[in-house]
Order: sequence, then C-alpha cells, then structure tokens
Amino acid sequence: MSYSYQIGSLEQYHEAYRKSVEDPEGFWAEIARTFTWKKPWDKVLEWNFKEPNVKWFIGGQLNITENCLDRHLESKADQPAIIWESNDPNEHHRVLTYRRLHFKVCQFAWVLKNNGVKKGDRVCIYMGMVPELAIAVLACARIGAIHSVIFGGFSAQSIADRLQDAKAEYIITCDGAYRGNKTIPLKPVIDDALVTCPFVKTVIVHTRTRTPVSMIKGRDLWWEDEINRVETQGNPDFPAETMDAEDPLFILYTSGSTGKPKGVVHSSAGYMIYTNYSFVNVFQNKPGDVHFCTADIGWITGHSYIVYGPLSAGATSLMFEGIPTFPDAGRFWAIVDKYKVNILYTAPTAIRSLMVFGTDFVTPYKLDSLRVLGTVGEPINEEAWHWYDEQIGKKRCPIVDTWWQTETGGILISNLAGVTPAIPAHATLPLPGVQPVLVDENGKEVKGNGVSGNLCIKFPWPSIIRTTYGDHERCRTTYFATYENMYFTGDGALRDEKGNYRITGRVDDVLNVSGHRIGTAEVENAINMHYGVVESAVVGYPHEIKGQGIYAYVIYSGKREDEELIRKDISATVSRIIGPIAKPDKIQFVTGLPKTRSGKIMRRILRKIAEGELQNLGDTTTLLDPAVVEEIKTGKQ
Ligand code: PRX
Repeated sequence: MSYSYQIGSLEQYHEAYRKSVEDPEGFWAEIARTFTWKKPWDKVLEWNFKEPNVKWFIGGQLNITENCLDRHLESKADQPAIIWESNDPNEHHRVLTYRRLHFKVCQFAWVLKNNGVKKGDRVCIYMGMVPELAIAVLACARIGAIHSVIFGGFSAQSIADRLQDAKAEYIITCDGAYRGNKTIPLKPVIDDALVTCPFVKTVIVHTRTRTPVSMIKGRDLWWEDEINRVETQGNPDFPAETMDAEDPLFILYTSGSTGKPKGVVHSSAGYMIYTNYSFVNVFQNKPGDVHFCTADIGWITGHSYIVYGPLSAGATSLMFEGIPTFPDAGRFWAIVDKYKVNILYTAPTAIRSLMVFGTDFVTPYKLDSLRVLGTVGEPINEEAWHWYDEQIGKKRCPIVDTWWQTETGGILISNLAGVTPAIPAHATLPLPGVQPVLVDENGKEVKGNGVSGNLCIKFPWPSIIRTTYGDHERCRTTYFATYENMYFTGDGALRDEKGNYRITGRVDDVLNVSGHRIGTAEVENAINMHYGVVESAVVGYPHEIKGQGIYAYVIYSGKREDEELIRKDISATVSRIIGPIAKPDKIQFVTGLPKTRSGKIMRRILRKIAEGELQNLGDTTTLLDPAVVEEIKTGKQ
C-alpha cells in the first residue's frame, strides 16, 4: 500500500497545511475515505471547546481492527505485522505476520466473548511487553470493549484506583515480566489490587515467567486454557463489532497537576485516522520498513506508534520486551542490526543513559539500515541530539523531535523526516490539521514570530481527547477552561523567527521524569501517607539522565536518628502507593515550608533551591516566615 496522503516535499507540506486550515473537513474527509468503513459518515465535524464537545465523522461506523488487520490480508498476509524481540537475546524471537496476528486477535476475541465481555465493557490490561499484550489490546477493540492498559511499573494501589475509576470488571495480566536481569511480578500485584476491587469478575493470566501465582477458582483463568477452549470450539474468525466513529476505543490514565490520575478517553475513528496520518508522515514510512518504537505499550507512545499507527498503515512494528542496557548498553544497536531496523523512535532519557557508556557499545554495530530517528516524551538537550545524530544516525538520518501528549493521541508538532527541516532541540512545525497558538498569562494570543508563551491549540484535530472517563467536567476545567475556546497543553513554548516551535516544558505542577508524567500532588499525597510525615512539597530539578528528578521537602515529626533509613522508608511508601517510577531522587528534611500568608506553598522558591540557585530566590517578603528559607538553603541535599 502506498499512502495517497504521504507528504513528499516541503511544498507539499505547505500545501497540505494550507488546505487543512482552510477546509479542515474536506482535508480530513479525503484521508478518511481511504480507510475501511462499515457505514460512511454523515457529517465530518461538530465541535465546541466550551463544553467541550468534539465529534469527528458523525454517523460513520467502523472497527479499527478491520483497518489494522483485515484490510491488509489481501496483499500483505505474509508480511510481518509484529516482530518481537525478547528480553533475553538468546531466546527465540517471534514474528507475527498479518495473517497470524489476525488469527490470534480473533481467537482472543472469542476468549473475551466466552467470558462475557461485551461492547463498552472496560478491560484493564497489566502485562509485560509480550506479543499477547498487543493481541489483548486488539482483541478488546475487535469486540468493542474499552481497553485500559496500565504500565507494568504501577503499584497495586494505583491499579486499584484505576480499576475503580473505570469500573473495570475484567483484567488481562501475566504471571510476571522479564526486564533486564529481573523478574517482575505482575499477577501478585493484581491480587493485591483486587483486595479493594471485589467487582472484578475475571482475571485472565498469560504465562510468561511461570513464577508461582495464586489462581482463585471462579475468578482467575489461564490464557492458554482459554485458547484451548476456543480451539476445540472450531471457528476462530471473529466478526468485528460495529462501532460508531465516536465510540470510545480506550482509556489511558495520566497525571495532572492536581488529584488522582485522569482517564483520558480516545475515540475509535478520529484516533485511528490521526495516528495513521501522523505515523505515515512524520516517520515517512515506506513499504517493507521495520519500525522500532522503544516505548512500552503502557504509555500513549506505545498505543499510537507500536500498535495502532503502524498496523493501520500495514507497516512492520518491532516490539522489544527488555531494557536498553541488558545484557549491555549496545542492546538497541544489536536489535537495529539484527532486524535491519529502518526507523528508530525512542526517548531522550534512553539516549542520555546510553551516552554515558560511551561509543564502545555503538561501534561494533553497522546501523546502516537506519533511515529515520525519532525522539519523544521530553525536551531533548542539544548534546543528546548531536550524539544521536552523529553516533547513531551517522549524520545521514533525519531526527524527528515529536511533541505530543496522552491527550492529543498523536504527534502534533514535529518535523517530517527528510521533508521539513530538522533543528536540534526543536519540534519545529505543526502537522497539517494542527493550529497551535501561544498565549500570555492573561490569555491573550501572542502573535508573530520570535515570541514565547503558553502553548494552546485552537482547532480540533481528529484524535483530540474526548473526555476524562466518568468526569467530563474535569476534562473541561483541566484543558478547556484556562483559555477561552482553546485546548491548553500545560506546556510552554518559544516560536522562533521562522515560526518553528521549541517546547520548553510544563508550566504547571506536572513533572516529566525519564519521559514519565508524574503529578507533584500525587507524590506529595503518597509521601504524606508515611508514618511520621507531617507535610511535604515536591518539585522537579534538572537531572542529567532523567531530564527531571524528584526533589521532596519533608516535615517529619518523629525522631530522625537514621535519616538515610527514613528516606528509604519514605521511598518505599511512594513505591507502594504509586509505583517505583515516582520515588523521590532527593529527600530533604525541613522544619517548615515557605508559605504565603494565605497558606500557599511558594514552589517557585523550592524549585530554585532544588536547582541550586540559592542566590536568586526572588521576593521572599510576602512569606509568612521568611526565616524558613534560610534553614532550607542551609540543609540543601
Ligand atoms: O511536556 C510535554 C512532554 O511530555 C508531555 C506529555 O506527556 P505524556 O502525556 O506522558 O506523553 C508523552 C509522549 C507523547 C508534554 O506535555 N513532551 C512530549 N514530547 C515532547 C515533550 N517535551 C518536549 N519535546 C517533545 N518532543
């Protein structure tokens, strides 16, 4: 399949962009027509950002898996859809052709049906990076169930929160997962979560590590037994459920600046079309290419650019179970050579962590199959950008710096590989269909070039967030109420003289640690649950590898004879409540926090101290007790 809407030159980009702004409905309808629909749409778009209410392809019916699988069976049945590389390089890799993947997805859709899963039911998926994870996701979509994938690093408490919020009655998990030289338990974590979730009816457990797990009669089932049951039933073909364009496809939880994570809801048709369009254009995928996105399917990057984008485009997606440093820091490069990877998409954190090991781990590899490199998840510093360009891309592979969010569903601002110019550490230009604006703190649009402001988008694109699950008002207040008639991203940005965007990072209380989004309030709540903690304040600080680290100021009431041990206890509490990814990097014990007279913590000051900018704290006279700042400065970690 070649893509009629693949942009091949800078002129074509400008032309597509112009059309997308002048006639968005015509622009997206032309692209949407190339997909498989069960029933065509009646109207392309209806929207307002007030409620908000955004609907694309109204009245249209489809199933995303017919677009990701069935439509490729005629010409690409034997082409690899998913290539899977296991954690252990000596374990046999697996290749699932489109025919095989279609078969497996249908089989597992039967398993879901046999167990009572229906259209609209929420299914939570908590698995390692095995092909069965992709199969489970697609089987949910086939049957019309709403999947909610939870990253394997989240704790039982986090899972329970999400299960309760989504009212999910079904879970698909693994006994455990392999990551580097560790075996991570998964089913035992689910068991702990279920103590507070008695409404869960069924847990299907895929065998990966064959570690001992408890299997409760009447609730827990082995994946393999259920597949055997389908095999004895005979017919593995599963007719794809008819979905309305706006029916929810999935929920993915993400952190905000306040409260518990919110369930971002994406639609069936708009999400499919936008992830496909952005995949095809940003990475400039060509027939036969091997696309390697190193993300975990537990994050939006994996949803959009391991599963739905590549498969809807009939591409080959490489899925990797392990970590970049196992068995050594050359693992990514070994995989690139082994499978002749053409497109590599990873995070700045991964690049920085591999840079530390030096080029000895790179030079043994040819890397000559690579054509396009990509980064995502956080701002990339120029040093990492150049290392990636020189050592990995050998200065012949364009780097796409892709800016987007869980809420945007797909890449919104990025250069298109080899088509529009790359600028180190700049996401550069918006994709066709995306209308970014910068606004000042009063909500006024900052026009012209060579300016900065808060990044908003003023017109809907097909994969924009539709709601936050179970709480539409939260969606409105978080994203659409800060500035009138605009989607607010939470990021700050600069627009250079030529109109290129450079994302400078979050302007709210959201941290980006190793490309993982973590709310400061969430971490504070977890720390405050620890015995002896009176109050805490969490801020980010620059971290050489992770981009941002977590710095916690803690008021502790108990005796602190062994401070190091207490720090470890507090970290263990955070790990237990949220998961290991939210553990503070630094904990400083303080006797007070800098507060305004109205009791608000002055995070600006805490941030400066954490950054080591002790001289430059700004005005502290409005503080209730300015002396507290001196104490904090002296005790800085
Ligand atoms: O701050 C931006 C940063 O990551 C945030 C979104 O995080 P999440 O929803 O977890 O999605 C990550 C993967 C799409 C954004 O608000 N971010 C993402 N990509 C970039 C980025 N910051 C700078 N440059 C990027 N390319």
